[in-house]
Amino acid sequence: MNIPFHKPYMTEDEVSAASDCIRNGWLTMGKRTIDFEGKFSGYIGSSNAIAVNSCTAALHLSLCAIGLKAGDEVIVPTMTFASTAEVVCYFNAVPVAVDIDRNTHLIDASKIERAITKKTRAIIPVHYSGQPCDMDEILAIAKKHSLYVIEDAAHAFPASYKGKNIGTIGDITCFSFYATKTLAVGEGGMITTENGDWADYMRRLRMHGVTRDAWKRYTKEGTWEYDVAYAGFKYNTTDIASAIGLEQLKKCDMMMKMREEIAAEYDRSFASCDGVIPYVIKSDRKSGRHLYPLRLNLEAMDIGRNEFIDLLKERGILTSVHFIPLYRFSFYSKIFGGPEKYPESEWTFIREISLPFFPGMTREEIGYVADTVVDLCRTHMKDSSRR
Ligand SMILES: Cc1ncc(COP(=O)(O)O)c(C=O)c1O
Repeated sequence: MNIPFHKPYMTEDEVSAASDCIRNGWLTMGKRTIDFEGKFSGYIGSSNAIAVNSCTAALHLSLCAIGLKAGDEVIVPTMTFASTAEVVCYFNAVPVAVDIDRNTHLIDASKIERAITKKTRAIIPVHYSGQPCDMDEILAIAKKHSLYVIEDAAHAFPASYKGKNIGTIGDITCFSFYATKTLAVGEGGMITTENGDWADYMRRLRMHGVTRDAWKRYTKEGTWEYDVAYAGFKYNTTDIASAIGLEQLKKCDMMMKMREEIAAEYDRSFASCDGVIPYVIKSDRKSGRHLYPLRLNLEAMDIGRNEFIDLLKERGILTSVHFIPLYRFSFYSKIFGGPEKYPESEWTFIREISLPFFPGMTREEIGYVADTVVDLCRTHMKDSSRR
């Protein structure tokens, strides 16, 4: 059996929605994007939603909105994708890394205050794998030190914390619609915020700083005249992406249910497997279930994580690792220092494998992955009596 790490859940609905855009000739941002923004904010319950072409763009515009300046500091977790920290560097500001909690892989809120200095302006919590961070603690710290909270929710649609949807909690929230994400359009992102002034500013910035709805200039309602008020960016999305997004949004609850069923099946299979350390999802929040992080019990096994990945590959199962911690990259090691400063991230990194996990996985595929993991763990127990 050959099982990919991910396969987007696309049906004829997405195909015909994208085809309609091509047939009607409106390819770039237009009415479908406005519709997508409206339906997305309606689903989340946020006052504003601004569609952009990636979560990276969303994070960048968010930092523009809060007025980040050169030399400012922004707190980020170690265990994230490069985007979370690189956007801070765009401003010649400084990302400051905080270690994670090994049980959840989320930023350890109890370590954030130690990292705050007079220059700190914001915290970017990352809802790793879809599990919301400890938002009460993070918001309390932010309030005490007058910091902004910009949530990196690239993995967390749909997700909720203590009954509140992600996208309605921090000052600004940034979502990703990248090909592997829980709502996929290829490349795309969304910003939600309750601050109308920031929303207007980010709407302009995403389209070169143009002061009116620039996309309307080719329509009857529009006019050719416009002003450019700021040096903005080319971060707008397209109606083709938004048409796909609208279809994905209709299915998001169904796709979530499918991911929950796969997770339950994996959990059941690994419950009595000595080679696996369970990943913890706290009971007061609902994870978006973007990833299924498997953690190997290396102390009990005679092989390491990398060999385990190779053995899975030999049996036709493709996996990934989320994430290589930022301090392990040559660029970020100069800012963050070495692995010895982040013991929880190191513990996690050397054990983690992200298993194939996508809606549409068949029962046979799920069973094959689960059985193969259990079989490899058993074969590679150090203590032969546990094999
Ligand atoms: C945690 C996290 N933040 C941000 C991003 C960036 O998303 P995008 O590719 O939409 O820019 C990713 C992408 O994988 C991510 O995993």
